[in-house]
Amino acid sequence: MLIAQDIIRPIAKVQKKILLIDDDRFILHSLGEMLSMKGYQVIKAQSAEEGLQHFKRERPPIVMADIMMPDMDGLELLQKIRRINADTEVIMITAYDRADLAIEAMHLQAADFLAKPIRPQQLFTAIKRAEERIKNKIKTTQYISRLEEALEDRTQRLIQAEKQAAIGSRVAGIIHNLSTPLAVVSSRAEYLATKLKELKSMPQVEQNPTLQEDLDKRISEVNVILKNAQKIAAIIDTIMTKSYREHQEYLAPLDINQLVLDELEFFQSDLYFKHNIKLSKHLDPNLPKVKVIYSHLSQVLDNLLKNAIEAMYDSPTKELTITTGQDEQNVWIKVQDTGCGIPAKNLKKIFTPHFTTKHYQKPSQPSEKRERLQEGGIGLGLSASLSLIQWYGGTILVKSKLGEGSEFTVVIPKNPNPPPEIKAAPDIEAVAGR
Ligand SMILES: Nc1ncnc2c1ncn2[C@@H]1O[C@H](COP(=O)(O)OP(=O)(O)O)[C@@H](O)[C@H]1O
Ligand SMILES: [Mg+2]
Repeated sequence: MLIAQDIIRPIAKVQKKILLIDDDRFILHSLGEMLSMKGYQVIKAQSAEEGLQHFKRERPPIVMADIMMPDMDGLELLQKIRRINADTEVIMITAYDRADLAIEAMHLQAADFLAKPIRPQQLFTAIKRAEERIKNKIKTTQYISRLEEALEDRTQRLIQAEKQAAIGSRVAGIIHNLSTPLAVVSSRAEYLATKLKELKSMPQVEQNPTLQEDLDKRISEVNVILKNAQKIAAIIDTIMTKSYREHQEYLAPLDINQLVLDELEFFQSDLYFKHNIKLSKHLDPNLPKVKVIYSHLSQVLDNLLKNAIEAMYDSPTKELTITTGQDEQNVWIKVQDTGCGIPAKNLKKIFTPHFTTKHYQKPSQPSEKRERLQEGGIGLGLSASLSLIQWYGGTILVKSKLGEGSEFTVVIPKNPNPPPEIKAAPDIEAVAGR
């Protein structure tokens, strides 16, 4: 991904090639000598027509042309050259001090105008100015093309994010709709279990040990169905509760430990997380509630957990530790991972919007041995999280060791003081915790 430094960094270089056109051999020779001595490749032409042919072939960035030539007027030549390449710097020269021609040449966008006899200092000043203009043009072109590249890159990422958001809201709808058929499955399974139990206690069956054993097996199978239906119902409930709370936009006292538990429960629905990450929690039982907007803190925690998990894709040990705690002024949540860590040079950049080191990996790469492929990053998780926390007067601290892991600590004042435009919702005591 392109970042600001890449876009600004110039790599402008001007070719040291000059085309000299003058019907005066002496001028051609003396200017040619001066320029060659300064390391320029000089192409000489004794007529406008010859000069034009050389120009088409060699495409020099700078042309010096006499304004009065027998075969073509220098101004006409200037126009022809600029029609072929408008970026060419054309310096006009003449033996006469003709201000009228100079003005016309400038109108036709000649780069400069030199009157004979040309002194070396005049010559090189004019060439230096022309080179500066070329450099600036190259820089601008490079800058624009890098900007276009960055814009394209960002557009692709936003499209991706937009798609995911759309999928997310559709999935929430679909999950909600799963509740009804799931309720049918559960109630039929319960009915079946009741019927099987009734059957088991019928006198004829009670005396038949083979049938009893068979019925016990059936009952335990139905119970497996029931238990799993309950698990699915719990997952649906977690997702729906989270989805509902994400839309709450008011300040209310939040039990941060409960938020951590809810968030982890949500992540547990992801089988990769459940089966690959070793999770430890150390939650301070005396943590006071803080008055915040639920979705803000859940988003921050969500971003930190996702980053921690993604950082451990390639690590042999995948340990995630969540700790909550407090000091006199603040409560804090610490998310530690045993992932790739952050190089020192990146530590300053990770909170910058759009900074990401995550590149989309095609699933088809044959050398891919990872259990999970990296998705492309948008680079907004940390910057957005920091802004959210700073809004409450808090901050996010980071420590990291390359190859060993990272530690992000979210610090929130016990009495957060966000800007006054958002009021607490009336009658709302606690939001977290069901
Ligand atoms: N726990 C972590 N371990 C290693 N690197 C991290 C961690 N968290 C964040 N980073 C680095 O910070 C960058 C920015 O993170 P973030 O703002 O969440 O954007 P994204 O995850 O989309 O790249 C990541 O691309 C990564 O380089
Ligand atoms: Mg992220």
